Amino acid sequence: MDQEIKEILITEEEIQQKCKEIGAQLTEEYDGKFPLAIGVLKGALPFMADLLKNIKTHLEMDFMDVSSYGGKNIRSTGEVKIIKDLDTKVEGRHLLIIEDIIDSGQTLSYLVDLFKYRKAKSIKIVTLIDKPEGRIADIKADIVGFQVPNEFLVGYGLDYDEKYRNLPYIGVLKPEIYNR
Ligand code: PRP
Ligand code: MN
Ligand code: MG
Repeated sequence: MDQEIKEILITEEEIQQKCKEIGAQLTEEYDGKFPLAIGVLKGALPFMADLLKNIKTHLEMDFMDVSSYGGKNIRSTGEVKIIKDLDTKVEGRHLLIIEDIIDSGQTLSYLVDLFKYRKAKSIKIVTLIDKPEGRIADIKADIVGFQVPNEFLVGYGLDYDEKYRNLPYIGVLKPEIYNR
């Protein structure tokens, strides 16, 4: 698997260090507030697991699975479909949405609108990766781990054809892998 990676952009150590930093910040921000941490499946899973271990106050976890309507290649509509909804009521709760990456911003824009409509008390977005050049929707994360250029990245939750999510680092895929 590793030999299919052209270059490691963010190492395992850098990711773990970042999880500690953001975790410490969120521990302070959410102390005594019992936030609802929402992971956006599937990409957010590795980051969510490592980040939450570094938030040292009580919180609740839940998951949402959404997909861009009509598949990832057609991004223009911005339509998002719910595959799995939350089990938890959002009204009156402090929400922490956890993502692996913001690209066009359409996934998060949809979720933020949905949670506002459901009367969340507060909404914060934390993303490990931000690709500002890809932005279509007007949305910004409150906390960004790393800003990256517009390259095709895999690993640590990010997939190509459902593969590479289990790499402990984030890397650039060799072009021959996706050109074949
Ligand atoms: C990816 C990624 C984000 C979203 C970002 O998820 O994990 O959730 O796309 O793209 P956007 O900012 O353009 O909306 P995807 O829908 O591929 O599902 P996955 O997490 O299961 O891979
Ligand atoms: Mn995702
Ligand atoms: Mg994906």
